[in-house]
Amino acid sequence: MGTPESASFDVESIRADFPILDREIGDSQLVYLDNAATSQTPEQVVDSISDYYRRYNANVHRGLHQLSQEASIAYEEAHDRVAEFIGASGGREEIVFTKNTTESMNTVAYAWGLAELGPGDEIVMTEMEHHAALVTWQQIAKKTGATVKFIEVDDEGYLDMDHARELITDDTEMVSVVHVSNTLGTQNPVSDLADVAHDHDSLIFVDGAQSVPHQPVDVEAIDADFFAFSGHKMCGPTGVGVLYGKRHLLDSMQPYLYGGMMIEKVTFDDSTWHELPWKFEAGTPVISEGIALAEACDYLDDIGMERVQRHGERLAAYAHDRLSEFEDIRILGPAGDDRAALVSFTLDSVHAHDVSEILNANGVAVRAGDHCTQPLHDKLGVSASARASFYIYNTEAEVDALVDALDEARELFA
Ligand SMILES: Cc1ncc(COP(=O)(O)O)c(C=O)c1O
Repeated sequence: MGTPESASFDVESIRADFPILDREIGDSQLVYLDNAATSQTPEQVVDSISDYYRRYNANVHRGLHQLSQEASIAYEEAHDRVAEFIGASGGREEIVFTKNTTESMNTVAYAWGLAELGPGDEIVMTEMEHHAALVTWQQIAKKTGATVKFIEVDDEGYLDMDHARELITDDTEMVSVVHVSNTLGTQNPVSDLADVAHDHDSLIFVDGAQSVPHQPVDVEAIDADFFAFSGHKMCGPTGVGVLYGKRHLLDSMQPYLYGGMMIEKVTFDDSTWHELPWKFEAGTPVISEGIALAEACDYLDDIGMERVQRHGERLAAYAHDRLSEFEDIRILGPAGDDRAALVSFTLDSVHAHDVSEILNANGVAVRAGDHCTQPLHDKLGVSASARASFYIYNTEAEVDALVDALDEARELFA
């Protein structure tokens, strides 16, 4: 980490916030490179959860007692903090807390899709969608008679924008596109896609699971109609995700889940709905998780999202360079200087699961499999790949540890 830029990014002091990184796996120091699946959680976020349970654990919205009031204020303000983090000027009314990106996707698919889609309507996705989007829209299409189409990915791992302009027509009702591919590391031009979608009066849903943790995101600059991401990939806890929606759209949609907390008035015959965003948060919501997610936003903003982005991209470029030294390694996706903070690869004649096991024996945690992009892997002609994904606490030395451990895999399977 010798460049002037890296000197201004104090990885060691960041690492001190993550005691889990001191763990040893067998005889080796943990090298955690599975951040695209779940990032680690800093002390500040863990403290915010324990502080909640130690000091003001109570149900929200319905209690008049002191603890409930404190919990309600913290929970509601967490929505405002998340809105600010992604540039949603409508504040809490445009931010629904869900369980994860997948649930955010399903909320729109069910609440908007079932009501709005029918035969003749088209949903346009990309060939690099995560199953969270692909399977959800595929199933909603089956229920409604709508058709699903896919924008092609070219040989270098980029979206074919000419094909996008061909596919998106006046029949398109929804364009659902991943902001940053969790397999290829491609950063998609979502704002251009939003323009194309809007030219045809279609809505656009952006899956930001891999972008919000790693770069400054402004949902209004993108002009996304809906936008989703997960807390556990951005230093937050598991169990909380976010659905952003333009206010007028959320307003016009029926709820996805019904029950307590999301109603205004209930009679034996009918019910009316609470104001936004609570209309979409039925039952006891994700209180401690939501509050901790706001803390994660503070943590990342204290570092600075531009610096978070530069650090991740620099590590990915370094990993790309190092892995490119070997002829038996195939890297999936764009060139090293144009990718987000991850590198997926295959190693000739060693299955990705074996690669991952051998890396694990050396303390290196990577993901192996199809990364919830089976159709994309089919298209690329590989059944599985290994994926190293980086975050604020990773170092070039850890990339070197990954590359060294791959040698062992080669020797074992030679
Ligand atoms: C691009 C992308 N979309 C959606 C998801 C689903 O996230 P979650 O499992 O938190 O719902 C992931 C998680 O890996 C992802 O990488």
